Amino acid sequence: MPAYFEPFRIKTVEPLPMPSRAQRAEALARAGYNVFRLRAAEITIDLLTDSGTGAMSAAQWAALMLGDESYAQATSFERFERVAAELTGCPFIIPVHQGRAGERILFSCLLTPGSISVANTHFDTTRANVELLGAIALDLPCPESNDLSSEAPFKGDLDLDQLDHVLSSPDGARVACVVMTLTNNLGGGQPVSLAHLREVRAHCEVHDIPLLLDASRFAENAYLVSVREPEQRGRTPRAIAEEAFGLCDGAWASLKKDGLANIGGLIALRDADLASRCQELLIATEGFSTYGGLAGRDLEALAQGLLEVTDPAYLAYRADSVAWLVDTLAAGGVPAVRPPGCHAVYVDAGTLLPHIPPHEFPGQALACALYLEAGVRAAEMGSFGFGRANADGSSAPAAHELLRLALPRRVYTRNHLEYVAEALIRIAANPETLSGYRIVTQPAALRHFTAALEPIGALTAT
Ligand code: F0G
Repeated sequence: MPAYFEPFRIKTVEPLPMPSRAQRAEALARAGYNVFRLRAAEITIDLLTDSGTGAMSAAQWAALMLGDESYAQATSFERFERVAAELTGCPFIIPVHQGRAGERILFSCLLTPGSISVANTHFDTTRANVELLGAIALDLPCPESNDLSSEAPFKGDLDLDQLDHVLSSPDGARVACVVMTLTNNLGGGQPVSLAHLREVRAHCEVHDIPLLLDASRFAENAYLVSVREPEQRGRTPRAIAEEAFGLCDGAWASLKKDGLANIGGLIALRDADLASRCQELLIATEGFSTYGGLAGRDLEALAQGLLEVTDPAYLAYRADSVAWLVDTLAAGGVPAVRPPGCHAVYVDAGTLLPHIPPHEFPGQALACALYLEAGVRAAEMGSFGFGRANADGSSAPAAHELLRLALPRRVYTRNHLEYVAEALIRIAANPETLSGYRIVTQPAALRHFTAALEPIGALTAT
């Protein structure tokens, strides 16, 4: 088991809610067995997402006080712009309130109905923003990504053969951009190698297609490159991140992740014309081009966060805590996607609960059992969230049935993760006691946020 060490001490604390088992059972039933509908005050350890849930540093809290709330050309924007431009090498920095706002604005300026965005995997908001414009989001993950248990180091890579195939087909002319999601969140948080990114860049140049990065977890990707890619060993995550940005024509990021802040995002571009079209849309829909829907103090916290996040000691702690959790779970009989990434553990609920078919949502069954057992909240990433409707109205299962335990940045200690691991290991000792779920009510789209479910048979988790 790799040891790990939190490279910070704690200055501000919050008490954890400690509902009893009876209260948890009641809360779960009231929430329609959908953990998105549980009250935060009913949750002991919240691993629903690593987005906007991190703890800020003392330096970030101090930076907040420097927030310049001037409407236009605030000094806080100047600082944010300088830090982001130095990191990305892009001269045009556009702040947005979160990642999906960046996606909407950038794609609105790049895509037209029928055009194609190719990616290693589009995150679900990325896909939604492509599809809202009548364009097509085409995922071409590398074949290695399909084997959840293999140790292939860069399962976030793109399938270059498939990319060539698409580009040389009649559809090739409709490809408007290639997107590389760093790290590949929906693909198990797996990284993309720098050598691969260079190859993707070369393909894009041949076909004159812009290469865009979804850089929401750029620092975590750079760290994994620094420890897994032999040619990059010994380089700093910061140097690797700068080189990765240097390969792209533009990038956007949700800074709720590697911006180490609770809100924020950015678009970074090299092309002046594209940047000014994005800025026009930004002004009409988000805010003036020097604040983009954020307060000046947010821009200060983000600028500081972007400087802190590539600290090798912080990134080593982050990667090692995920690896520790994956290995501890494996030793206790709980399978998870390998190799470990940096922001989350993806428990393989399909393998753990073979008696629950995909249409009865094994990942959701495990999410409910984990909440009932220990008050821990985690997100299903399987057929409940990502099953797609077939043309005949039936539903096609997702590729895998996963439960994502996302780790908020600098929030929980190893003791907390031990508590989570022990709960999952207890559940895994008697997996057959878990039953599947059926949907009772659901909205037309994005059902996993609001649908209500009910257990099929008795809910008898240990
Ligand atoms: N891209 C990636 C890779 C993401 O993981 C997310 C958000 C976004 C874009 C959208 O950014 O939330 O700031 O609008 N991921 C969160 C998650 C929600 O839980 O994984 P946003």
